[in-house]
Amino acid sequence: MTNNSTHQPSQPPSWHVDLPTNLCFRLANHIASLQRQKEQEGKRLVLGLATGSSPLPLYRALISLVEKGMLSFQNITTFNLDEYIGLSDTRHSYETFMWDNLFSHVDIEASHIHLVPRVTTLKEAHQAAADYEEAIANSGGIDLQILGIGRNGHIGFNEPGAPADSQTRVVQLDPVTRKDASEAFGGLDHVPTHAISMGIQTILRAREIHLLAWGSAKATAVHESIYGPVGSDVPASFLQTHADTSFHLDSSAATGIESMTQNAVKVA
Ligand code: F6R
Repeated sequence: MTNNSTHQPSQPPSWHVDLPTNLCFRLANHIASLQRQKEQEGKRLVLGLATGSSPLPLYRALISLVEKGMLSFQNITTFNLDEYIGLSDTRHSYETFMWDNLFSHVDIEASHIHLVPRVTTLKEAHQAAADYEEAIANSGGIDLQILGIGRNGHIGFNEPGAPADSQTRVVQLDPVTRKDASEAFGGLDHVPTHAISMGIQTILRAREIHLLAWGSAKATAVHESIYGPVGSDVPASFLQTHADTSFHLDSSAATGIESMTQNAVKVA
C-alpha cells in the first residue's frame, strides 16, 4: 500500500519533450559545462549512471563531445546504479554494457569508475551493497544522476514497494522487470531473480537528477511518476520530492502528460 502521508511533493519535476538525440545533446552539453566548472574549482564531477536502452543516445552524445575535445572524463568519477546477482558470465553484466557503450570510448581512468560488484551469493551481495553506499558517500555524493524508468515505475532496481529511505541493498526483481529482460537473456529462466541496487534515498541524495524515457510503453509510468501520488507503488514518484529533477521524454513517452502544460518545457 502507498503511504503518502510523509512524502509530500515539493513540485512536479520539470519535463522536456523532443527527439532523444536533441534532448541528449543538450544534456551532454550541460554535463560538459558542469565538468568544466568542477575542474576550475579543483574538484571532481561525480556522475551516477544507468544502463539499458534509454541512456544510449546520451552516451553517444558524451562520446562525441570527448572526440571533439569539448569534454574530458579525467576529473569525472562514476557510480552505476545497479547490477544483477549471480550472472553465469559477463555477457549480460552492466560492467560489460558500460565498457562497450561508454567507458572504452572516453578518457576516463579505470580507478574512477565504480560499478556495483558482480557477486554470486546473497551473503557477498549484502556486504558489497553496504560498501558501495559507503563509497558513494566517501566520494562527496553524486552531483548528477542519470535514470531510466521501468514500465512498472522502477528506478534503478527499486521495484514497486521500495521504501523511500532505502539505500544500496539486495533487491528481488519484479516479474515485469524479469519479463522485459527475458529476450536479452534468451528466456525468462535465465534472468536473475535478484540484484544489488542503489536505494531511493541514495538516488534522492543526488544534487540533480535526469530521467530519460522513450516510447509509448513508458507513458503510463511517466505520467504516474510526475502527476500521481507519491509513494512506493510507483517508485519514480518519489522524484516529486526532489528539488532538481528533469524528465527528458520523446513524444510517445509523453503521451500521458501531453495535455498538462504546467511546469513543462516543450521543445518540439
Ligand atoms: C538500469 C536500470 C533500470 C533501467 C530501466 C529502463 O541501470 O537501473 O532502472 O533504467 O529498466 O530500462 P531501458 O532503458 O532499457 O528501457
